[in-house]
Amino acid sequence: IAHGRRERAPQWWQGARDSLLALAEPGRPHYVYHLPTVRERAAALDAATAIDRRFFAIKANPHPAILRTLVDAGFGLECVSQGELDHVFEVLPDLDPARVLFTPSFAPRAEYAAAYARGVTVTVDNVEALRNWPEIFRGRDLWLRLDLGRGDGHHAKVVTGGAASKFGLALGAFDAFLVAAAEVDARITGIHAHLGSGIETVAHWREVYAELAGFADLVGTVDTIDIGGGLPIPYRPDDVPFDIPAWAAGLAAIKAEYPRYRLAIEPGRYLVAEAGVLLTTVTQVVDKLGTRRVGVDAGMHSLMRPALYDAWHGIHNLSRLDDPDGATVEVVGPICESSDVFGTRRRLPAATREGDTVLIADAGAYGFVMANTYNLRTLPQQDVLE
Ligand code: LLP
Repeated sequence: IAHGRRERAPQWWQGARDSLLALAEPGRPHYVYHLPTVRERAAALDAATAIDRRFFAIKANPHPAILRTLVDAGFGLECVSQGELDHVFEVLPDLDPARVLFTPSFAPRAEYAAAYARGVTVTVDNVEALRNWPEIFRGRDLWLRLDLGRGDGHHAKVVTGGAASKFGLALGAFDAFLVAAAEVDARITGIHAHLGSGIETVAHWREVYAELAGFADLVGTVDTIDIGGGLPIPYRPDDVPFDIPAWAAGLAAIKAEYPRYRLAIEPGRYLVAEAGVLLTTVTQVVDKLGTRRVGVDAGMHSLMRPALYDAWHGIHNLSRLDDPDGATVEVVGPICESSDVFGTRRRLPAATREGDTVLIADAGAYGFVMANTYNLRTLPQQDVLE
């Protein structure tokens, strides 16, 4: 990571403090999504004029208001389960199935059948599916998801390429896939790769496009190359925001070398992470053996990312935003697991006390949708700011 080159702009919630404090509710953590920020991120991607098709990976945040906002902004939707497919057509009954992509992993046969019945584009990443379920794929169009033999991402648990990964067809099986597809008369109209999440190397996507174009040339029937999602956001104060103009320029250059294909992307996090915050209330402040812990009513059941990936999220005392951050504390939740920690050595106002509203930043992606009721605690509430 490069440090300190491009300052992160002030975040929307700094100017929305009063509306946020009005939403906060002790005992019930609230996710709040700021739709203008979603629109702004969607518009930022428009700078990449080489991109022909944009899908939003709804797994990051399937809230109906977010889906409507992004579809209105011209995005299609990428789904990975029948539940996600049913959800998008329930929220948007008039959505053109041509704008929906189904990219499952180890899904049961019935989900592929359901996806074709809906008329959406289906991605396949193994030969076995074609061989075992010829009745599903006979005469159909499909996209092939490749594993380019490497992966990348913010944590080992979100790398989706390489020998250890369950995702994608290994390059060595490419010829066998073409044979299996021909045997069921299936037509490969797209080539796809998504090699990980939170990738900071700007050149990653143009390299993926170049490699996939080579395979598309071999197939002969491909019209679209999907280079996946995985764009990062700056979670830490010294993370440098992703350089969209450099990324866009790289895509334009590589697209000019292989102009025959339509270029597709499918980001999730980039579009929604910074648009969401998690509001939670201080329950107890406890000093133990030299460590001060600020307990809040959200925990690893409300936002799993810190426990699961050691992910870093900004933590701010919204009730005392103007106080100096005079105390070093650990911020913890109420779950009976030692991993229930949102942050260690964090700076919060010394006066932080029971009842204060704490804001956990950049929680709009993989937040609510991964929440659960462990310890029989309740799911968070969700609110939208227009
Ligand atoms: N396309 C496919 C096929 C994917 O599997 C994913 C994410 C995406 C697109 C969107 O990736 P994004 O642009 O959001 O990086 N829960 C983890 C992230 C898991 C990502 C899973 N796949 C986290 O909170 O960091």
